[in-house]
Formats: sequence, C-alpha cells, structure tokens
Amino acid sequence: MLTQFVYTSRPCFAPSSASGGRMLGNIVESARQNNARFSISGVLIVGRDWLAQVLEGERENLNGVIARILADERHTDLRIAGLRFLGKRRFPAWSLGMTTSTLDMLPIDRVAEMSGADFLELARIAPTSTHYMPA
Ligand SMILES: Cc1cc2nc3c(=O)[nH]c(=O)nc-3n(C[C@H](O)[C@H](O)[C@H](O)COP(=O)(O)O)c2cc1C
Repeated sequence: MLTQFVYTSRPCFAPSSASGGRMLGNIVESARQNNARFSISGVLIVGRDWLAQVLEGERENLNGVIARILADERHTDLRIAGLRFLGKRRFPAWSLGMTTSTLDMLPIDRVAEMSGADFLELARIAPTSTHYMPA
C-alpha cells in the first residue's frame, strides 16, 4: 500500500552554515541512493533550525527508511506530522528533493504543530529555483 510519512526534526547542526550545508549535502546524497533503490520519493524542507521531510512509498519499504532516519544522530526531536495511505505520489520524480522553506524563521515549536498537509503545501509553493532536483 502506497504510504506517505511526514515528520519534523531539529538538526544537530546549523543548516545555513558552510559545514551544515555540507552535512545536508551528504545526507541528501546517501538518502537519494537509498530511496531510489527502494522506490521511495519525497522532499526535505529546510528551515533555520528545523527540518521537515515528506516520504512516500510502499509501506514495507518505508519502514526500513524510517528506522534509518530515527537512528541518525545528525538530528533529534523527531515528531510525526502525518502518516496516511496515498492514492498517488506527490513527488514521483524526486528520490529526495530539497528546498528551503519560506517559513524558515518559524520557531521549531510552531513548526512541530503543523500538519502533514501544511508541509505538502510548503513544498508546493517553494520557489522552484531553490529546489535541488536529483538527476
Ligand atoms: C534529515 C535526514 C533525512 C534523511 N532522509 C533519509 C531518506 O530519505 N532516506 C534514507 O534512506 N535515509 C535518510 N536519512 C538517513 C541517512 O541518510 C542515513 O544515515 C543513511 O541512510 C545511512 O547510511 P549508511 O547506510 O551509509 O549508514 C536521513 C537522515 C537525516 C538526518
């Protein structure tokens, strides 16, 4: 069953710093490889001090990816914003797109109150120039 998983977390690095940017690059690169292998698609939304990620794929494939994400010490404070069955993928072409949020100044407490649908909308309205599109 095609499933969508949305969560927020707090990065253990500053995403806008040079080293934080490199760390994000590393995360996305290995995530893309894994996701492509398991037919997972999605997007990572980067705020000033928070992250949100939308992932979609078959439930049994998602389980493994979620376990890896939970175990990753480069972020903390994971909160599930949504988990639901899906008729059709929202990001079929992206093993993992990355975008900077227009709400990046929102504090993490507020972000953690947002719903899965809110993050889908954020990803949708993000300026396409900031999208990092995997080949
Ligand atoms: C913010 C964040 C997002 C991540 N997203 C994914 C993902 O979409 N897919 C995935 O397989 N792993 C994801 N990971 C997990 C890391 O990429 C994980 O460390 C890596 O898959 C494990 O790599 P290894 O098998 O080389 O140890 C994410 C980690 C973080 C911190």
